[in-house]
Amino acid sequence: GAAVEVDISGLKSGEKITVEWRGKPVWIIKRTPEQLAELPKLDGQLADPKSERKPSELTPEYARNENRSIKPEILVAVGICSHLGCSPSDKFTPGAQPSLPDDWKGGFLCPCHGSTFDMAGRVFKNKPAPDNLEVPPHMYLSETKLLIG
Ligand code: FES
Repeated sequence: GAAVEVDISGLKSGEKITVEWRGKPVWIIKRTPEQLAELPKLDGQLADPKSERKPSELTPEYARNENRSIKPEILVAVGICSHLGCSPSDKFTPGAQPSLPDDWKGGFLCPCHGSTFDMAGRVFKNKPAPDNLEVPPHMYLSETKLLIG
């Protein structure tokens, strides 16, 4: 499929945009410094904290790091749950959803069967979704131009 070029110059900290690539929603999220600081603390609660499962399908080599990204703050991920393919909703903020734990630090909740993902798209343990969200192939053409695919 055709690659998609995205201008992210207007993306502010804490914001997300969604673009379509190969018929799938791709999220581009500029994480806040607070959200990034939480990521290493979550490893013990995650099914695959280092994104070692299905690396060639789910996490390109340049995203196999704590943030799962090229630029630390920018997450690029396919917004499709690895369980049965629903699209997780944004629950960026603590307290956004009663079914989430009190110590929820932000991330995504799949409305279908309750899988939860952190702000790097990493799936929490003991949830139906087996794998982290896919990081699609991507690269930066410039500081603010992203090429997906
Ligand atoms: Fe997401 Fe089942 S499709 S939890």
